[in-house]
Amino acid sequence: MRGLTGDSDESPTTCMGLETQAAAADKLFTQRCIEPLCQATFGVDERLYVCPNCGGLIDIERTMGFHDSSALIGLWRERRTSFDAPDRSGVWRFRELLPFPGDASIVSLQEGNTPLYQARHSAHYCNLDLLSLKHQGCNPTGSFKDTGMTTAITQACRLGSKLVICASTGNTAASLAAYAARAGIVCAIMVPAGQVSHAKLAQALDYGARVLEVEGNFDDCMRVMRQVGEDPSVYLVNSINPFRIEGQKTVAAELAEQLGWRSPDHLVIPGGNLGNSSALGKGFRELFAWGLIDRMPRITVVQAAGAAPFARLFTESAGNLQDGRPGRELVNEPDPHTLASAIKIGAPISWKKAWRSVIETGGRVITVTEQEIADAKAMIGRDGVGCEPASATTVAGIRRLVKEGLIGRNEQVVAVLTGHVLKDTEYAINYHNNALVANWRSEVEGAGRIIGHFPNIPMRVAASKEVVQKLLQQLLEEDQGNKA
Ligand code: F0G
Repeated sequence: MRGLTGDSDESPTTCMGLETQAAAADKLFTQRCIEPLCQATFGVDERLYVCPNCGGLIDIERTMGFHDSSALIGLWRERRTSFDAPDRSGVWRFRELLPFPGDASIVSLQEGNTPLYQARHSAHYCNLDLLSLKHQGCNPTGSFKDTGMTTAITQACRLGSKLVICASTGNTAASLAAYAARAGIVCAIMVPAGQVSHAKLAQALDYGARVLEVEGNFDDCMRVMRQVGEDPSVYLVNSINPFRIEGQKTVAAELAEQLGWRSPDHLVIPGGNLGNSSALGKGFRELFAWGLIDRMPRITVVQAAGAAPFARLFTESAGNLQDGRPGRELVNEPDPHTLASAIKIGAPISWKKAWRSVIETGGRVITVTEQEIADAKAMIGRDGVGCEPASATTVAGIRRLVKEGLIGRNEQVVAVLTGHVLKDTEYAINYHNNALVANWRSEVEGAGRIIGHFPNIPMRVAASKEVVQKLLQQLLEEDQGNKA
């Protein structure tokens, strides 16, 4: 297989000419409806979000495996030392997994290549020997969305799209805005008015997106976007778009590589619209099928208790599975609530794909409370890592699973942190000042004041050397007392 080349300078143009790959993408890859009774197939150049025959979700499949997995692993490792732009992207470095021809012009911000941190405080908090945090917040726009946006916007360019759109709780919007700007395509984003963090909104505005603030929640935005997306002159890049999932699935390869081409025992992921859990499940499924790893991790999805239609389906389906499928369809949560605004979603589009990820790996779907999310987030901060609230559902969930004996103390556990700590600073400031309030109707799950169990209140001091020195001395004594 030949390597691909791209601009190695810092030119502002990120659409790069690539050399020809060994085989054309339209022969190697196909789009297939995931509904077992349909399974209709389509070419990868067809602009589809759902199956035109039955409305099912679409998967992209590689029709051939790899002859020599160790050569592939070697090639991917070699690219880490390359200065070619596609090689420096943590997504395009794994381009053999992606449904694009070798001559595709890719739109990249050098996404991926995110760290896997050991987290001592968080591990202790969960009662685990070790805990690893895969920090997808260390992407160019501060969330995991970039790994899928690079492939979705590359496909938008291939299809000649002039206008790209999405509905978003904020991170997809920021990511789309940045990648559309890089590609020189107009973009419009729909966000629930007053429910998106300022940081995310600020990003979208700065990157030049047209921002439509909708009077409604995320699910209303998504419903309207899907209707608008039927118009062939626009291209919808929510995670219902299978090209988004393709980019996001490469995180499985990156993580397996970081672990020496092994799967962890458990992989724990926050669940909102359920694209990420779908993508990581697909990524690991493919690595396993092609002999790159020898087993799958158990995938657990964690939802906030007030926005948990998927967890409810899982719990109610226990003991009532038919060929691994739930006994019923997912019932939407009409009025979801959580302060983790990124996952305030009641009608998750990709639930059938996420279901597969959970069931075929022997994982589960659980919920955590607002209080658990807030405390877990503070603990992740203590590791010097930090994340946005939605990401902290993972550590909160792991703590619960260890307590219930469903994760063993010495098992290898990876939590996927999906967004950067600076994505929602108001939440952090309020938590540390004991002013975080879930201010919705008292009868609704999780309402009320969140107690800052690990608060860190700023100290107002006089501008005086003596006062400050005295305080610093106290701090040292406190620290020694804590360590004694
Ligand atoms: N974590 C963060 C930080 C997110 O922004 C999201 C989703 C999720 C977790 C959930 O991922 O939807 O793939 O299950 N944010 C979307 C958005 C909905 O519009 O930014 P999922």
